[in-house]
Amino acid sequence: MKEQAQPKHIGAGMNRVDGFQKVTGAAKYSAEYELPGLAYGVLVGSTVAKGRITSLDTKAAAGAPGVLAVVTHLNSPKVPGFTPSGKDPSQPQTVGGRLQVFHDDKIRFSDQPIALVVADTLERARYAARLVKAQYAKEAHQTNLLEAKSFLPTQAKQNPKSPMADYQRGQGDAYQGGALKVESEYIIPTEMHHPMEMQSITAHWEAADRLTLYDKTQGTQGTRRDFAKEWNLPEENVKVVATFVGGAFGNALHSWPHESAAIIGAKVTGRPVKLMLTREQMFTLVGYRPYTWQKIGMSATADGKITAITHESVGQTSSYEEFTESTLAQTRMMYQAPNLATRYRIAAVDVSTPIWMRGPGEATGAFALESAMDEMAYLLKLDPLEFRLRNYTDQDPEKNRPWSTKFLKECYQAGADRIGWRKRQLQPGALREGDWLLGYGMGVGTFGAHRGAAQVSARLLPTGRVLLQCATTDIGPGTGTAMTQIAADTLGLDPARITFELGQSGFPKAGSQGGSSTVNTVGQAVQDASRALLDKLRQQAAAGNAAFGSAAPADVVFTDKHLTLKGNDAARVAYADLLRQPDAGFVLVESKPDGADQQKYSMYSFSVHFAEVAVHVLTGEVRVRKLVSCADAGTIVNEKTAANQMKGGAVGGIGMALMEHAIIDDRYGRYVTKDFADYHVPVHADAPAVEVYFVNQPDPHVNALGTKGIGEIATIGVAPAIANAVFNATGKRVRELPITPDKLV
Ligand code: MOS
Repeated sequence: MKEQAQPKHIGAGMNRVDGFQKVTGAAKYSAEYELPGLAYGVLVGSTVAKGRITSLDTKAAAGAPGVLAVVTHLNSPKVPGFTPSGKDPSQPQTVGGRLQVFHDDKIRFSDQPIALVVADTLERARYAARLVKAQYAKEAHQTNLLEAKSFLPTQAKQNPKSPMADYQRGQGDAYQGGALKVESEYIIPTEMHHPMEMQSITAHWEAADRLTLYDKTQGTQGTRRDFAKEWNLPEENVKVVATFVGGAFGNALHSWPHESAAIIGAKVTGRPVKLMLTREQMFTLVGYRPYTWQKIGMSATADGKITAITHESVGQTSSYEEFTESTLAQTRMMYQAPNLATRYRIAAVDVSTPIWMRGPGEATGAFALESAMDEMAYLLKLDPLEFRLRNYTDQDPEKNRPWSTKFLKECYQAGADRIGWRKRQLQPGALREGDWLLGYGMGVGTFGAHRGAAQVSARLLPTGRVLLQCATTDIGPGTGTAMTQIAADTLGLDPARITFELGQSGFPKAGSQGGSSTVNTVGQAVQDASRALLDKLRQQAAAGNAAFGSAAPADVVFTDKHLTLKGNDAARVAYADLLRQPDAGFVLVESKPDGADQQKYSMYSFSVHFAEVAVHVLTGEVRVRKLVSCADAGTIVNEKTAANQMKGGAVGGIGMALMEHAIIDDRYGRYVTKDFADYHVPVHADAPAVEVYFVNQPDPHVNALGTKGIGEIATIGVAPAIANAVFNATGKRVRELPITPDKLV
């Protein structure tokens, strides 16, 4: 018997509830559903970056063994949700203007799908796909962002209050008149998400108007909405299953051409079609962190007070869809600068559409801002930590509101202690160990503590177990585990007797797993649903035993076969009796912020990352020797999975700083880095032990649980911490990522 008391499970490092399934292979990912009559789809991509298809020869492919269909724009069935061709696709559309696959003869990027081969085995589909021959009328393409024309995003044109619109407080570009100023340009290249599990979908038309998708997605209901719309179906006729997702980092926050293609292939063949992208196709078809140019001008007084900042940015989008992200958000609120201007632009190039990648725009913006902070600190001959403290903000300088909570100073202190910041020398190159130069650097990160609406259902089963359901996904952070802990504490029930089911569009409402918002949103709904279930059980038990009528919900206790009351063992109602009532032991609860606190406070998670690097004087090799990541993310629900998140984000930051770089050969508009031999990500040997520190103070304004979110701040600020450490080691300021050895020797 468990009694309700202080949190026992929230905060503990509970093992993942699905860990056993994952390590034994029992967990089923979207490409692992074997349906009767299953067929396999393989995409053929365009070999030019822009133009028109002038001829397509599919005869050999169609006649190859086992081939069921070759779908192209010449024979693809009408997809009711696609817009009529003729609408000028060269005009950037707002987000929602997704690529309409096999819709017309236009080529908008290299590797755009031009055909889908469906066959009875994967091998036969792959073979036949190689037999499809296309000819093109090429048009001049542009894949170099720095040469493309930039423009204000449509949403900013339409709404001057949009976060993408130009922003100014005080005087614009006031830094130019400052006596002490830095002015620098920064570039981050295109980076790719590359989760372990490649994108895959199994599309199954269960009837002419009923579609089931086993799909890699971060949002089952968003995917359902997209494809219900594409096929003009009622949403309830589309079912999306994503019980397990093997990482995503943002690239499953959008619906992509391969998903549309598999659904078309299933329609044409009348068989369920499985389509899994190859690793090569992961470079071209499912988004990326956009190549971004930035410029920062900053001025300060001799005693280290920032007087002005101007931060400009141009990010990449595609020719057919406008992608925007919050590259400049951190600059507007992080430091106390009386004069501040931000200007965000995008430029359309002939590549596929980017998508948020971990930390999204803030991670890009923080590279520039936190590098500029380091440059300014060096100019002022100030410790960069001291410089940040002198410009610390006790309220949001953008919205002029108090923070809901902010424990960034605690993070600074904890991180400085743990990295050994006092060993740092102001003068670069002052620390040396043999042929290795040592340096220390820091970078700050922040991300909005977002909370939306979610519904969770909770049901008492005759066995005394409780089943909760929600449509949220778990792309790897351990959502099911955290939700189980929250329910366990709220219900006063052993976590082993709780099941949290997720990853199906038919479950109660949830948004996508993105923007570090799942625990803030779904976690609170789980707590609310658990409380509501207790109260409902108490009321329904009162029919069998009057003592329940006047009891407090928190006094309800679950035993093996009965519901009873704390301190009153005589009050007993058997589950079997209780559940005989109609609608017994079931609640469906919607939980969302009332908005009052959101108006009153600015809500952010904060992080600071400290790096110790060693740079080899002869080869320019950079080793990250130690990383300390400290976070003010509110209440930590699971110290183990939360620390896992921080470590994973930090390793992603190492990749951003030192390795990740998708290279396009602009002559052909085609990526030349198309596998892990050329596109480098950190491996085990590149990643040091990452030390994680959580302030673990609840934020009472985001939600009752006190959580603020971790996923993004784990990465935001890591790359500049490493770049700043490299400067401290070598005196070389690298403003274009990644910091490869050629930039240091
Ligand atoms: Mo994250 S970039 O919100 O998956």
